[in-house]
Amino acid sequence: MSATTFSKLDEMMAAIEAEQPGDLDALEQFRIKYLGSKNIIKPLFGEIRNIPNEDKKAYGQRVNAVKEAAEQKFQQLKQQLEMAAEDAAVQDIDLTAPGEPMPLGSRHPIALTMNRIIRIFERIGFVVADDREIEDDWHNFTAMNTPEDHPARDMQDTFYLQDSTEMLLRTHTSSVQARVMKHTQPPIRIIAPGRVYRNETVSARSHCQFHQVEGLYVDEGVSFADLKQTLLYFAREMFGPEAKIRLRPSYFPFTEPSAEMDVYLGTDTEKDYRLTKGTGWLEILGCGMVDPAVLENCGIDSTRYTGFAFGMGIERQALRLYDIGDIRLFFENDVRFLRQFAAEF
Ligand code: DAH
Repeated sequence: MSATTFSKLDEMMAAIEAEQPGDLDALEQFRIKYLGSKNIIKPLFGEIRNIPNEDKKAYGQRVNAVKEAAEQKFQQLKQQLEMAAEDAAVQDIDLTAPGEPMPLGSRHPIALTMNRIIRIFERIGFVVADDREIEDDWHNFTAMNTPEDHPARDMQDTFYLQDSTEMLLRTHTSSVQARVMKHTQPPIRIIAPGRVYRNETVSARSHCQFHQVEGLYVDEGVSFADLKQTLLYFAREMFGPEAKIRLRPSYFPFTEPSAEMDVYLGTDTEKDYRLTKGTGWLEILGCGMVDPAVLENCGIDSTRYTGFAFGMGIERQALRLYDIGDIRLFFENDVRFLRQFAAEF
């Protein structure tokens, strides 16, 4: 009796060895048959009841060996068949298929305009100075010759940080002048592009956030003629070789004398008529000779050095460059608007 029971184990072992599942489906059948909850090895464990005591140990070891053999075969085949399936999937790849298009973004028209301006000034030796948008009162106002009780502070409605009288969103890029002069001695020749903030009503023509490019040139013997020539060069590079400029006397606390510069666009096109309010002249910047007090505030000897500075608005130039009618479009980030600039870098 025990001999036949033992021979059942041999048959089972031989059957397991003979199995040749050829794919993962067949392997699953193998698993159910030998390792599943109702597998055919299980009853052989039950047989141990009928084995005489002296053979029980040997029987137990054999039946375990059968189970282990099934387990091992399953793991081995699983690895083999899975690898084969992966290889087959790789071979299914069509190497001649066209690639997936990679969606490319586009630069923002303000960035494009700013980069144009930067390149123009870089050609005559200006370097970019980048600085913070959250600024302190000293760099934004006091250093720029605009102490606390100065009426010029009312010219720019300032966003202060909550509960602060000291920290603010810079109202102009002129704050970078102070940042640079405090740690650099002349010659200084920088432009500072960036975003500025003012508490103004949003409309088609103005916004509470906008962009400026600041310029600063400090050295021995810098004159108003240098300023004028630099600005004329800029206007011709930006608006064409025929561009005309005019400087109107103005007032800024940080420059003396001060001026505002207009570029002549004419009124031939409706857009130029609108943009220049019918005059043909577009105001694009404020400028002047750096007030000696500003130089001294920042640790520069005003008896030895002079300088000029300017600050220009970017939005108006971008409106003109790209024929856009409303400044708010720059800040809405509607992708249908932005995608139109994909061709330019
Ligand atoms: N900061 C001035 C503004 O935002 C513009 C400006 C005027 C900048 C004269 C200058 C300057 O550097 O010299 O209105």
